[in-house]
Amino acid sequence: MKKSIKDFDLNNKKVIIRCDFNVPLKDGQITDDNRIVMSLPTIKYALDNNAKVILLSHLGRVKEEADLAKNDLRPVATRLSELLGQEVKFIDKTRGEELETTVNNMNPKDVVLIQNTRYEDLDGKKESSNDEELAKYWASLGDIFINDAFGTLHRAHASNVGLASNLPTGVGLLVEKELVELSKLDNPERPFVVILGGSKVSDKIGVIENLIKKVDYLLIGGGMAFTFLKAKGSNIGKSILDEENLEFAKNILNEYGDKIILPGDVNAFKEYDNESSNRIVNINEITEDEMGLDIGPETIDMFSSIIAQAKTIFWNGPLGVYEFSKCTKGTEDILKAVVESNADTILGGGDIVAAAGQLGYKDKVTHASTGGGATLEYMEGKDLPGIVSIPDKD
Ligand code: 3PG
Repeated sequence: MKKSIKDFDLNNKKVIIRCDFNVPLKDGQITDDNRIVMSLPTIKYALDNNAKVILLSHLGRVKEEADLAKNDLRPVATRLSELLGQEVKFIDKTRGEELETTVNNMNPKDVVLIQNTRYEDLDGKKESSNDEELAKYWASLGDIFINDAFGTLHRAHASNVGLASNLPTGVGLLVEKELVELSKLDNPERPFVVILGGSKVSDKIGVIENLIKKVDYLLIGGGMAFTFLKAKGSNIGKSILDEENLEFAKNILNEYGDKIILPGDVNAFKEYDNESSNRIVNINEITEDEMGLDIGPETIDMFSSIIAQAKTIFWNGPLGVYEFSKCTKGTEDILKAVVESNADTILGGGDIVAAAGQLGYKDKVTHASTGGGATLEYMEGKDLPGIVSIPDKD
């Protein structure tokens, strides 16, 4: 077990908490505050224990001057302040006198949020290259560093790994919970079913290679299924094909074909457009001018009967273009099957968690991970630098 915030005396201490407030924004408005909500337990724990709370996070990617305004963290301070029911003082700079004076004048139970850590990337990628001077500077602002940014654990940046090297450190309650839930997948109760969707096979190769030996069934839907169907010799019309990974798909099917379940029917469209004409079609009957954009009803039944027997489920990637109203059914019906099963269910990756949120299933699963790339890398069996940089409990 990693050292955690609970292993420290926080009373009157300046506690720097790295959160992942990388939330979607549209016209300066937060469109999904899940990551902010999920960071509340750690922040509240620190406040209840009389800490002075200094928050750091990145938002988006900052490569040029024009990226600054659209990745301003101020809307997060406003939302966080509403959620906490207290002022969150926002410092519009990542360093300097105003920041230092504010931090030095903090009282216990005050909360300060510092501007987007990636503003430092504009000047030589200081944040993203884990610049030593920057890490030491941020460390000089606090007494303890808590890493609660699960979604950023796969990055070795100044605001996570750098700070951990320069202050007494532990994980926050969100990171701790994510690690407990995801580690259940190391020794899953069986049957263990993995559901993969999304469009690109390339994003999932590492996960498939790491999990295929462990799973009882791997259900594949979404755009990536067509590369596997093609590898099996099926017609796929003009459905999305990941040509480069066709060989990979063939090899995995050769070795583990009995565990891999592919769609037998699809919702096929003439164009990539919700308004285009569509029909449910057996995969062998799809024509050259059609593309599959969702799994069909027979596939939903087949996947659902496997899910009903499962004791552990991990799911990454939607099973169709769920943003199109005519293609929501596959993902929605399978979400329903998953929450009605008796399995421990973990959703990992931004898209499936967003879909579950929109369709009203997110709160009904065992765990919806806040990580995108971090969850996938964890599932690939990789060591995540953000975890490695935190010591184990004494
Ligand atoms: C994410 O959204 O996956 C994390 O916040 C990491 O963001 P990044 O891919 O820009 O590092």
